[in-house]
Amino acid sequence: MAKKLPGEQGGAATWGSIRWSFHSLMALLITALMLAVTYLPRKAEMPSSNETSRVAPKYGRVGRARQEGECDLFSGRWVYDNVSYPLYKEKECQFISEMTCEKYGRKDLSYQNWRWQPHDCDLPRFNAIALLERLRNKRMVFVGDSLIRGQWVSMVCLMDSVIPSDSLKSRTYYHNASRVVFKAKEYNASIESYWAPLLVESNCDDPINHNASDPIVRVQAIEKHAQHWSDADILVFDNYLWWRRPQMKVLWGSFKSPDAIYKEVKMPRAYEMGMTTWSQWLEIHVNQSNTELFFVTMSPTHERAEDWGGFTGQNCYQETELITKEDYWGSGSNLAMMRVVETVINDLRARGVTIQVLNITQLSEYRKEAHPAIHRKQYRPLKEEQLANPMSYADCMHWCLPGVPDVWNELLYAHIFKNWVPKLESRVENK
Ligand SMILES: *[C@@H]1O[C@H](CO)[C@@H](O)[C@H](O)[C@H]1NC(C)=O
Ligand SMILES: *[C@@H]1O[C@H](CO)[C@@H](O)[C@H](O)[C@H]1NC(C)=O
Ligand SMILES: *[C@@H]1O[C@H](CO)[C@@H](O)[C@H](O)[C@H]1NC(C)=O
Ligand SMILES: *[C@@H]1O[C@H](CO)[C@@H](O)[C@H](O)[C@H]1NC(C)=O
Ligand SMILES: *[C@@H]1O[C@H](CO)[C@@H](O)[C@H](O)[C@H]1NC(C)=O
Ligand SMILES: *[C@@H]1O[C@H](CO)[C@@H](O)[C@H](O)[C@H]1NC(C)=O
Ligand SMILES: *[C@@H]1O[C@H](CO)[C@@H](O)[C@H](O)[C@H]1NC(C)=O
Repeated sequence: MAKKLPGEQGGAATWGSIRWSFHSLMALLITALMLAVTYLPRKAEMPSSNETSRVAPKYGRVGRARQEGECDLFSGRWVYDNVSYPLYKEKECQFISEMTCEKYGRKDLSYQNWRWQPHDCDLPRFNAIALLERLRNKRMVFVGDSLIRGQWVSMVCLMDSVIPSDSLKSRTYYHNASRVVFKAKEYNASIESYWAPLLVESNCDDPINHNASDPIVRVQAIEKHAQHWSDADILVFDNYLWWRRPQMKVLWGSFKSPDAIYKEVKMPRAYEMGMTTWSQWLEIHVNQSNTELFFVTMSPTHERAEDWGGFTGQNCYQETELITKEDYWGSGSNLAMMRVVETVINDLRARGVTIQVLNITQLSEYRKEAHPAIHRKQYRPLKEEQLANPMSYADCMHWCLPGVPDVWNELLYAHIFKNWVPKLESRVENK
């Protein structure tokens, strides 16, 4: 499955390395200043009454009681902003192969124009050059299912927009089985995606032949996957949708062994077993002094319109508006599984391993209009009865790009720079 992207052939321009490093240095300085500025708390900057009426403040949840000097980036609201968003254009990013909603005929493109506004501060502006500098000589790997693959695509689109695209020398891209690698060569920065839909080993691991209807999970085995990301510098995991079923067939032993034991295990117990295997792997194999760990919480689906007051039997098909209920949770999020994630991550923390949680679930809950529905690549020709009833094949699980996963990456970006920024802030303040 080695695939070459169009536009990788040919290409003459490579920039002189001296000019490059000068540019990079300037960019870094400018970013540093920008970050320092945007990170300052916005005490006085409440929306004017005009703005409030225009942006509908209910597209988000009410902030929790915050601690002194702390900003919960996940507590906020969606603000319509067609000036700064989208952060890149669908047509200009060749890495979006499936969720090109505009290309597949979606007419209402407002889903590209929403900015996430935390209540107590601003998100730092995404600066691709600064992130490339940060990733110099490093590997960042997104591990998990198609949702995290989507986040990887978004990240690569965000990065690629600053790399001269006519240059074969500036970047490479290759796809080998479960692994997809984007490399910004000037920076020797590798941004990868590794397909492991249940994180632990399963009969669904084949990137082409998913076996999704009858999963069998080898709940104590992860090494087969982990070897591909064991030396990464930044790891971003997700793990949810493939476990979202009443029970799971679990295998002890190996797939071919004659004395393997198979058992149906109920949820969320089976999920807890898988997450525990994963956490033990991290505890034993990850060196915390040079590895940063992230977990992206479940990506919500919008398959039941009655959740948000729509008609029973409908889904996200033809939705163009956000959900306006405050503190909204739909049936597409499984809170029992959220508890498992919390417990596993807290236990790890108690044992000295820190995983930063990108808690994107609720903020994405409001975005019922941002799924592809019928505007995406189809791998099989649609049947007549499907075409007669588009709702029956609407994808209310993945996300259009540009779109919601770009915001997840802005949150990831904010976390990656979090420890770096306060130092600069105090330097600015000292002047
Ligand atoms: C918007 O604000 C301006 C000044 O603050 C005020 O004059 C105007 O009436 C407001 N418009 C609306 C629609 O509230
Ligand atoms: C942004 O949205 C406003 C209000 O819907 C519209 O008047 C304006 O033309 C839009 N601007 C762009 C650049 O699309
Ligand atoms: C390039 O990056 C890789 C990590 O992706 C690292 O192992 C390697 O040492 C880097 N090369 C140089 C020359 O620094
Ligand atoms: C592709 O992956 C397979 C299995 O991990 C490996 O054996 C092979 O060397 C890889 N090929 C390339 C070109 O990297
Ligand atoms: C899919 O599942 C079937 C039945 O368990 C198994 O025979 C087959 O090898 C699986 N496919 C892959 C790619 O693991
Ligand atoms: C972890 O990484 C640091 C810095 O690279 C190194 O000094 C240390 O020996 C490593 N610890 C272990 C247990 O490998
Ligand atoms: C994520 O945030 C929600 C509130 O929106 C909270 O209930 C949940 O416990 C958080 N999850 C984790 C893993 O921290």
